Amino acid sequence: MAQSKNIVWHDSKVTKEHRHELNNHKSAVIWFTGLSGSGKSTISVELEKELYNQGVRTYRLDGDNIRHGLNKNLGFSPEDRKENIRRIGEVSKLMVEAGLFTLSAFISPYREDRNEVRELMEDGEFIEVFVDASVATCESRDPKGLYKKARAGEIKGFTGIDAPYEAPINPEVTVDTDQQSLEESVETIVKYLKAKGYLA
Ligand code: ADX
Repeated sequence: MAQSKNIVWHDSKVTKEHRHELNNHKSAVIWFTGLSGSGKSTISVELEKELYNQGVRTYRLDGDNIRHGLNKNLGFSPEDRKENIRRIGEVSKLMVEAGLFTLSAFISPYREDRNEVRELMEDGEFIEVFVDASVATCESRDPKGLYKKARAGEIKGFTGIDAPYEAPINPEVTVDTDQQSLEESVETIVKYLKAKGYLA
């Protein structure tokens, strides 16, 4: 990949802290990770609505959406997934700089890739939410019919079937969508955000 040379960082006069003051709230990335069909997108959509209702500025980044545009040149090899997450990490960082609660919902199956995003952020700006559901549950939901295709060998390297998923070891929040309802999952995250002082 070509490397840029002779580039100099130019600071703004309006900082992230100014934006926090203007918005009356902090900013952070809420990073959802979990199997396809675990509920990441569904929960992030509901959480965003809840945050919006509370007057919080947000933006949502979602695997299937981003792969239509910014990352449409990437597939599902380990290298491409790594690059997918690296780019989303950088975009999330920009969104956090812009003062937004950024809800990022990607399988992000590799611990190392997620940890690299965490490293990009300042302390407290990366909130990892493990959307925990068994392969059996996700397969029974199969909202896009992809598990069926993966079992039939029509999709190779499908996460949870013939590609790995590395669960977080120490996530900030875990929601168990095998057991919890959508409302309960959203409530669990909102409670965490309040307990840690992200929200009033
Ligand atoms: S990630 O692994 O690179 O983080 P991402 O979240 O962007 O994945 O995209 C996952 C979505 O792509 C899935 O929800 C599913 O709709 C689709 N998809 C297509 N092929 C695969 C595959 N081989 N493994 C997982 N998801 C796939």
